[in-house]
Order: sequence, then structure tokens, then C-alpha cells
Amino acid sequence: MSAASMDVIVSLCKRRGFVFQSSEIYGGTGSCWDYGPLGVELRNNIKRIWWRDFVQQRDDMVGLDASILMHPTVWKASGHVDNFTDPMVDCRECKRRFRADQAGTMDWTHYCPATKGNKFTIKGGERCPHCGASRTLCPECGKGELTAPRQFNLMFKTFMGPVEEDAAVTYLRPETAQGIFVNFDNVLQATRRKLPFGIAQIGKAFRNEITPGNFIFRSREFEQMEIEYFVNPHDQLDGRPADEAWHDRWIAECQSWFTRYGLDPANLKLHEHLGDELAHYSKRTVDLLYRFPMGWNELMGIANRTDFDLKQHAKFSGKSLTYFDEERKEHLVPFVIEPSAGVDRALLAFLLDAYREEEVRGEKRVVLRLHPELAPIKIAVLPLLKKRAEIVATGHDLRHRLARRWLTLYDDTAAIGRLYRRQDEVGTPYCVTVDVKTVGDPDKGEAGDGKITIRERDTMQQIRVPMADLETVFGRLLDAGTSWSEVAAGYPRAEG
Ligand code: GAP
Repeated sequence: MSAASMDVIVSLCKRRGFVFQSSEIYGGTGSCWDYGPLGVELRNNIKRIWWRDFVQQRDDMVGLDASILMHPTVWKASGHVDNFTDPMVDCRECKRRFRADQAGTMDWTHYCPATKGNKFTIKGGERCPHCGASRTLCPECGKGELTAPRQFNLMFKTFMGPVEEDAAVTYLRPETAQGIFVNFDNVLQATRRKLPFGIAQIGKAFRNEITPGNFIFRSREFEQMEIEYFVNPHDQLDGRPADEAWHDRWIAECQSWFTRYGLDPANLKLHEHLGDELAHYSKRTVDLLYRFPMGWNELMGIANRTDFDLKQHAKFSGKSLTYFDEERKEHLVPFVIEPSAGVDRALLAFLLDAYREEEVRGEKRVVLRLHPELAPIKIAVLPLLKKRAEIVATGHDLRHRLARRWLTLYDDTAAIGRLYRRQDEVGTPYCVTVDVKTVGDPDKGEAGDGKITIRERDTMQQIRVPMADLETVFGRLLDAGTSWSEVAAGYPRAEG
């Protein structure tokens, strides 16, 4: 298991430029986050490999990029206008707002009459140990009464065009999925796909969450990676209705995707939605949970949305959203399996899982054991002596050369030990050092050997490699996925 608490990750993210609070100089907006120089690379890597693995490398998938603002009837048809609500209560005193189901489980403030009105913070669901009271008032201020629960719609409302009137109301999309459903027929006509096939989309979604929190886990603006996989419900697969079999296949695919890129399987488990938990559109939903520091929580969901959405959009738009089954000579509405993941939650899970604190020669080493495909910086070029102009020039040349294929950084702002630690902390898998032996020493009449040292992050092993081999070596390590031990076996070890 990772050694990381949320505080440790939040602090690392700010210090090293992964994630900043939005509008921080104005006091911040508690529920929005900005991705810094390393965060944007990590985020892009997650999206890139997801798109590559689930869209480009499969022959049953295509992509889409729909607009965020859609016709308002989309949200009526999808059920979001009527059902995308949370019951909430307001404090009559401090005016804070809580989700009705969470007010009872939050830690609560209590002015205890048995101790002359002293203020205590009591654990959620527990009674005051002095007077025995349980919470009835506002959990935050401890003074105000709470209103009866009212339904609160989580969609952000806005106006299309210059006039702020009811007829111009529209919404920021709360999920990317609907952009796919309303384009089902367009994609079908344009691509002539046969069932089963999927449409994928990555994009921003917005929810006016009542209780955002836990860093980037729940925010009001976030990004989703969604697939709507259309299946013929009359087909049989693995001896079962095709939609049920595909649902299980997608659950397994998603789980193995996260473990392939580094999540410890022990930190993942499945959660089956039962009874009330099941969304209005779903025949079956399974969440993939990750063991976050605040407990097991949803990393992504995989739902069987049946034909609900296509039928709803057909009904509200008056357009046919069917598929013609050539074999059976019938028009049908496909069923949909929907794997839906959050980019921000995936990023948080990858960071938490990769974080390690180790002791190396009596000193603490913080290392992010990120999968090389995820690592923001792939290679760091570090000169051993920055006073030697040839070493610095060779370092810059190497960075320039390697940066054509992999994100490569040059850093000479500290001693080598410190530079290694900095790269370990942000997950850079390989460091290249240029030293006196590489370039030689004309004063002593020594010629350079033209070799550099490559250091691997996790083992901290070092090998000595001719500069001419660099593209081949990193091509094997970073593109072909050859293991470090296999590549390192072909070169002499350098001393650490
Ligand atoms: N189209 C289905 C759908 O939107 P969801 O379970 O509401 O289902 C899917 O959302 C995923 O989107 C979640 O598993 C989570 O990873 C991410 N997500 C949802 N709300 C989020 C929020 N407020 N902040 C960050 N990520 C969120």
C-alpha cells in the first residue's frame, strides 16, 4: 500500500507544480483546481493512453468531441432536469447548506449545557459524552435549526445568447454521455458501423456539488472519459444476453487497465449497486472502487443503461434512433454499456498509489513510482559539473536530441544527489548524467569516452551507455516497454 495521506499528496502537488487551487490569489474557489506544469503532462498522459488503448487500438470503437452546451431539451429527455438532484438542508442561522444524508454523519459542533455551554466537536453519529445529547442543530455552527430537506438540482444553469430569460436557459453538461447519445445516428450514418460498437469521448463536465471535497476527488468542474458501447440486446454472447456479457467484459477491461498502469490490485474492488442506489436508467451498475485515504470510494462506474437514453431522445426529438439488424431484418434500439471514468480521480489514484517514502543510505527518499507512460517527464539530463562548459553543452545537446521523442528536462541547479531526489519525487523514470569522462579533460590530455550514465528511478541502478545508443535504449525502455533489467544487462554498470 502507498504511504501517502491526502495532506502529503496535496502538499507535493502544490510544491512541485501538479495541482494548484483555482484563483488562489483571491482566496481560492474551494471546488475548482488548476493543473500546473507537471499536472498537465500527467493528465494528458492519462487521457492519451486511455484514448489509445480504448479507441485507437480497438476496431470496435470510434471517437467524438461534442460541445459542452447542448439543447436544453437534452437534459429534460435524459432525466437530469427532474432527477439529477440531491436533497439538501439549510442552517437558518449560519446559512450553510448540507446534503441531508450527510448532515447526520458529519462531525458536529455542540455547546454542552452540562458544562456551562462549553463548545465541543463530536464525531459524526456519536452523542455528547457529557450531556448525552445527539445532534439536532446545524453540524457546523452548532446553533441554527436545519430546514426540511429540499431537492437541489446539481446542474449549472446558464443563458444562451444576450437575454437572460427562461426561454434562453441552458446547462453546462453534467456528463459527457448525452453528447454521444444525441449523435448516435450521425456516427452510425457516417461510419456504417455494425453492432456491437462504441463511441468514446473525453471532456469537461460540471456539477454544482453541494459538498465538494477531498482535493480533486469531488469538484464542480472535472473531466470524464466515457464510452457508450452499443450492443444488440437480441444477440447472445458467452451463452447470455449480449448486453450482460459485454457489461462483465467491460468491468474486467477497466479493472485491468488501471492495474496495467500501476494501481495495486489490493487497492481496487468492485461494488454492485443494489436497490435504491441504482440510477433511474440502469439495469445494473458496478463501481470500481479505489482505497483512497478517506476510505473506499468510486474511481469509475460501469453501467448497463439499457435502451433508456436512445428511446428518451427519440421520444423528445421525434427522430428515429434505431439500428437496422440485417440478419433479422428488424429495426431495434441498441442497449448501452457505459464505462465512465473521471480523469481527476484517476490522476489522484495514480499519484497516491505511486507515492513511496524510502530510506536510502540513512536519508529519506520520496519517490513517485509512476508507470513510465504516465510519468510527466520521461528523461532528465543532469550535468555532473556545471563549471565545465563542454559538460553543459553536451547536456543541452542531449536534451535537445531526446526531446524530439520524449519529454526531456535539463537541470543543473543543484548538486547531483539533490537533482536525482527532485526527479524521484516527480516520478521521472530515467536520468542521464554527463560527466568528465564523457567529454574528457584536455588539460590532462584525456579524451572523452562519449558515454553517459543512465540511472533508473526505482532500482537506482546505473549503466554506462554510448551517447550514440541513446535513442535505441530509450526507444526500447519507453516505447517498446522492454524491462530495465533486460536493457541494463547489455551495458556495464556504473557506480552509484
Ligand atoms: N455518465 C455516467 C456518469 O456520469 P457518474 O458516476 O456520475 O456517472 C462518472 O460519473 C465518473 O465521473 C465518476 O466515477 C467519477 O470518476 C467522475 N466524477 C463524477 N462526479 C465527479 C466530481 N464531482 N468530481 C470529480 N469527478 C467526478
